[in-house]
Parts: sequence; structure tokens; C-alpha cells
Amino acid sequence: MDYPELIVERSDDIFILKINRPEALNALNIKVFDALEYFFTTYNNDLSVKGVVITGSGEKAFVAGADIKEFMDFDSSEGAKLSKRGQDIFFKIERFHAPVIAAVNGFALGGGCELAMACHLRIAGPAAKFGQPEVNLGLVPGYGGSQRLIQYIGKTKAMKMLLTGEMISAEQALQWGLVNEISEAGGEIDLSLSLLNKIKSKGPLAIKKTISLVNDFFDNTKNGFEEEYKDFGFTLGSSDAKEGSRAFIEKRKPLFKGI
Ligand code: CAA
Repeated sequence: MDYPELIVERSDDIFILKINRPEALNALNIKVFDALEYFFTTYNNDLSVKGVVITGSGEKAFVAGADIKEFMDFDSSEGAKLSKRGQDIFFKIERFHAPVIAAVNGFALGGGCELAMACHLRIAGPAAKFGQPEVNLGLVPGYGGSQRLIQYIGKTKAMKMLLTGEMISAEQALQWGLVNEISEAGGEIDLSLSLLNKIKSKGPLAIKKTISLVNDFFDNTKNGFEEEYKDFGFTLGSSDAKEGSRAFIEKRKPLFKGI
């Protein structure tokens, strides 16, 4: 991948993606979108990839939003197109087969909060700040924020955050269920990696199907219970499930192959 706006590091079966525009507090522009789209399309369903961490460059920000300077002169139709593209890329992240963790190392605002919410898990540093400040610009969120924020914190709290544009602290985000854990300062990536290392010992097909089932709850074209019994049958018939059960009985660690 040759995208200077996204630094990609691979350590064995886990990737760390670092959005690399510190001079603009890692604001999401078209080039960052191109890079994210390329990555999540290339590795979609590659079961050798066991997890991804997304973080921001520099000390100050995860992502401070969509790039205001890039879209400020867009007309309505260009705006809708940009928003739809952002939503589609974030759906790819949300539906990725392996866990994607946002390691939030500072401001996660607007598109940045939306990117973190599209990830499966969120680890925040103690100084992280979350917000949907679009109303300050006379805008609504464009990359799923008006929908996913409700899923995480409920309508009452989401309505207030969206209407006031106010930021919340990492501690508040933890209390409200927006983040999974708070790391020590500077420890967001390490804590994310230790979580991924725990998950990667599980059956990869089961992980993929679990992510998809949780997403199904929020997909009104699907009946989650119906999907669950189908996926239970599918995973039960897999070699991995046979190996998992055998290993349990033989009191040893399973050797999953993702088949
Ligand atoms: N887009 C473009 N550039 C941005 C940016 C953004 N979202 N956020 C910060 N920057 C730039 C600033 O313009 C500044 O650049 P210059 O040095 O060239 O002026 C640089 O990053 C540093 O920013 P500040 O000087 O503002 O830093 P600060 O510490 O004083 O403030 C901040 C930090 C509170 C995060 C502030 O930068 C800020 O409010 N940023 C905008 C946040 C925002 O409104 N995000 C939502 C964007 S719209 C959106 O995301 C829509 C959507 O859902 C799709």
C-alpha cells in the first residue's frame, strides 16, 4: 500500500493502521478514505488477518473529524456523495471479519467519533475526548454518527451530544458505554493489542460470525434470531468446532484453522 496518509504496520496476523495527518489533527480527507477503502477491501475475509488497530498520529488527536477545508465548498449533491462514501467505508470496517479496535489517543470528533464507533471495540487514552460537533458548523453528522451514537449511549444522551455539540471525556464515555476500556496514558495501542491477542486464540469462523450477528441486531432487513440459528448450525458443522470440542474433552488448547 502506498498511501502516506495511512501508515500500515503488520505484526504477524495483526495490523496497526495509523492515520497520518497530524498537521490537520488527522482529519479525514479523500486520500485517507482511499487508503482505508483499499485496506478494508483488500483484506476483507482474509482469515489470516486476526485483528486491526486504528489510531491517529501525534499526541493530540485520534481524528478531529472530516476535513472541513476539503468539503467546505461542496454543493448539496457533492456533500451527499461524500457522506455516502464515508458511510460505505465505515460499513466495511463494521462488517470486517476480524475485530477492529479504535485506539483513541486524543480528540475523536465528528467523523473521528464516527470512525471509532464503526470499529468493533474502543480503547481510550485518559485524555481522549469524544463529540459530534457538526451543529457548530451548521451541519449534521455524515458518516453514521446520528445513528450509531444512539446504538451505543441511547437516545437521551445521544440527542444531547448531537444538539449541543459538546465533547465528553474518556471517563464519561466509559460510563456511558461508548468505550470498552481506558488505558494508561500512551497505552492505547498496547491495550488494544493485548485484547486482540486474547481474541485471536478463538475460532476465526466463530469470531467472524459473532461480529456479523451483533451487526444483524441493528439491520432491519434481517431477523437476528434466524441468523443466529443458521450461524450456530454453520459453525457447529465446521472443522474448527469439531477441533474445539475435541480439545475441550482432551483438556488441551484447540488448534483452529478457520475451516
Ligand atoms: N478539518 C480540517 N482541519 C482541521 C480539522 C478538521 N476537522 N480539525 C483541526 N484541523 C486543523 C486546524 O485547522 C489547524 O490547522 P492550521 O494550523 O492550518 O490552522 C490544525 O488542525 C490544528 O487545529 P487547531 O489549531 O484548531 O487545534 P486546537 O488544539 O486549538 O483545537 C480542536 C483542537 C478542538 C479539535 C479543533 O481543531 C476543532 O474544533 N476541530 C474541528 C472539529 C470538528 O468540527 N469536527 C467535525 C468536522 S465535520 C464532520 O466530521 C462531518 C461528518 O460527520 C462527516
